[in-house]
Formats: sequence, structure tokens, C-alpha cells
Amino acid sequence: MAEQETKVIRSRVLSGMRPTGKLHLGNYMGALANWVKLQDEYECYFFIADWHALTTDYGDTSKVAENTIDVLLDYLAAGLDPERSVLFLQSRVLQHAELYLLLGMITPLGWLERVPTYKEQQENLTGKDLSNYGFLGYPLLMASDILIYQPQFVPVGNDQTAHVELTREVARRFNQFYMLDGREVLPEPKVLLTPSPKLPGTDGRKMSKSYGNTILMTDAEPVVRQKLKTMVTDPARIRRTDKGDPDKCPVGDLHKVFSSGETLAKVYEGCTTAGIGCIECKSWAADALVQILTPIQERRAGFTQAQAEEILADGSRRARARAEQTMDEVRSAMKLTLSSER
Ligand code: TRP
Ligand code: SF4
Repeated sequence: MAEQETKVIRSRVLSGMRPTGKLHLGNYMGALANWVKLQDEYECYFFIADWHALTTDYGDTSKVAENTIDVLLDYLAAGLDPERSVLFLQSRVLQHAELYLLLGMITPLGWLERVPTYKEQQENLTGKDLSNYGFLGYPLLMASDILIYQPQFVPVGNDQTAHVELTREVARRFNQFYMLDGREVLPEPKVLLTPSPKLPGTDGRKMSKSYGNTILMTDAEPVVRQKLKTMVTDPARIRRTDKGDPDKCPVGDLHKVFSSGETLAKVYEGCTTAGIGCIECKSWAADALVQILTPIQERRAGFTQAQAEEILADGSRRARARAEQTMDEVRSAMKLTLSSER
């Protein structure tokens, strides 16, 4: 008897990142590693938000294309699989811009002005001119990125939850105004909060590109070891003979995320008794990082720039088809279709 084909309907997820250049371990642990796992269970759409990069950097666009490919290579290196996930480029799916325009009609200005990142970034990114329509619209473009794939979930970190909340409000408002044959067109997606361990950078602050304290996914072993050497430690442990506390040490935090239970036990024992030195302890942390990074870097080396661009083109084609399906419904619900088009 022929095997019966069972079609499993999986929930859909969508997420993306701006093309900020090569990604670091914080991006990997906080997002990518989770996305890779989601591929087993969900229908996945992951993209690179190149238009979003312009909202803060419109004056210098020279790096956007190059950064886009770097981010895609990091996606692939992490284990995102173009066979299982749709990996695409925002600006290659013009439907995002159409939905953005239409949603702009129904979105009260106050909703955008009240998004917490709006004022925060205007105050914090002092070197940049953020008094633009595009920057105010950032979260609405993000809402369009999301809603156009009608996903059930959006896997993002805590810093993006306000944006997803706005997305839900915009969807609700759209559905109140426009229905298609009595049915809602834009389901309200939920945040899928991805676990992100506390990951310090070399200066002990949160690992972040803007602090210049990162370990990149592409850093070769000697670079990792060198960066670890400069990493800050428990400030109370000044001399080799001083006892320390891994709970007060950024290197200790790295061990908690990346090292085996066995190594972690040695760190606690050695640090709190002054039995080991920080140099040795850091070399163990470097070992753990190198072990995580090696297969990632091997995978990255398996893709050429041309292959990466092809993957992006193919994914963008698939994304366009899916986005157009939603836009058909959106245009119909808004009664923007002529009788010959119905
Ligand atoms: N704002 C997100 C960030 O800075 C990037 C992004 C743009 C995004 N559009 C999105 C994330 C849609 C999830 C869904 O990281
Ligand atoms: Fe930090 Fe390790 Fe030094 Fe302890 S021994 S202070 S955990 S680097």
C-alpha cells in the first residue's frame, strides 16, 4: 500500500535583524541559536531588514549591501537552513512597502510617538539625526514585515516586545475596519520570547556592537584568545593570591554559558580558593568558545558570496509569493480591487 502522505500544518514564525555587519556571540546566543531550533517545529521566515538600516544610517549607505551578505553568511553559519527556512531580504519584497503605506493610513501618530524606543533612541543616539518620518515609522515598517506573513509567533528578545505589541494593535485596528467575507485578514501574532543568557562583552558590560566589546562569530582562535586575555575579571581579585568569585566576574559568566559542568566546578573551586590564576581560567573559557565557534566557522566557509546571493534571491522569491497572497486579501478587504480583478 502506498504510504499515506500526512500534511502537518505547522505554525509560522517570522523574525529578522538589521544588517549591522558581522554578528557576535550575543546575537548568536540571544537569537540565532534559538531560530535554528525553531526550524524543527515551525514554518520559518527569517530576513534581513536592510530598509530598517536606513532609518538610522541614511547618510552613509555604502556598507548596507556588504553587511547584508555578512549577516546572511552568519545566519547560514549558525545553521539556518535555506531548504527548511525562507531566508530573504526585506527590500526584495516590495509588498512590505505597500502594506506599510496602507497601515500608515490607519495608525494614529500617537501610537508611534509612544513606542519607548522612539524617545530613547533620539536621546541616546546623539550623533545621528533621527527627526525623520522614516525613523518615526520604524515600528510600523516592522509591523508590516510581520503581518504580511500572517505568522502566529515572532521570536524576538525583550528589546523588541514593544514593537510586537504595536504590531498587534495595528492588526486589531485593521481587522476592525476591514474584513474579508466576515473573516479577519491579519491575525495578531504573539511574541515568542527567546531565552537569552546574560552574555558579557570583554569590558564586562552586555555584549554589544555599540560598546566595541564583542567576540564575533567569525573571530579566529587567536583573536578569541587575545580578546579573552583583555577581558575584565572580578575586580576584587587583584593579585594571584587574592580569592575571587566567579559570580562577580564576566569570565565566570562566560563559563556558565559555554563551559561543561566539570570545568565550571573547577572554576568555582579554583577561583574561590585562589587555586587557579585568571590567565588559566580565561584560557579554559577561550577553549569553550573555540569549541562553539569552530563548527560555525566551518559551515560559513562552505558558502561563497555568489551562493549566499543566490540563496537570498531564491528565498526572496518565495517570500514574495507568500507576501503577495496576503496583499491580495488586504486589497480585497480594503475594497481596492476593481471588478475585473476579483
Ligand atoms: N527591529 C528589529 C531589530 O532591530 C529588526 C526587525 C525589523 C524585525 N523587522 C522585524 C524583527 C520584524 C522581527 C520582526 O532587531
Ligand atoms: Fe574570573 Fe576566573 Fe579570575 Fe575567578 S579565576 S576572577 S572566575 S577569571
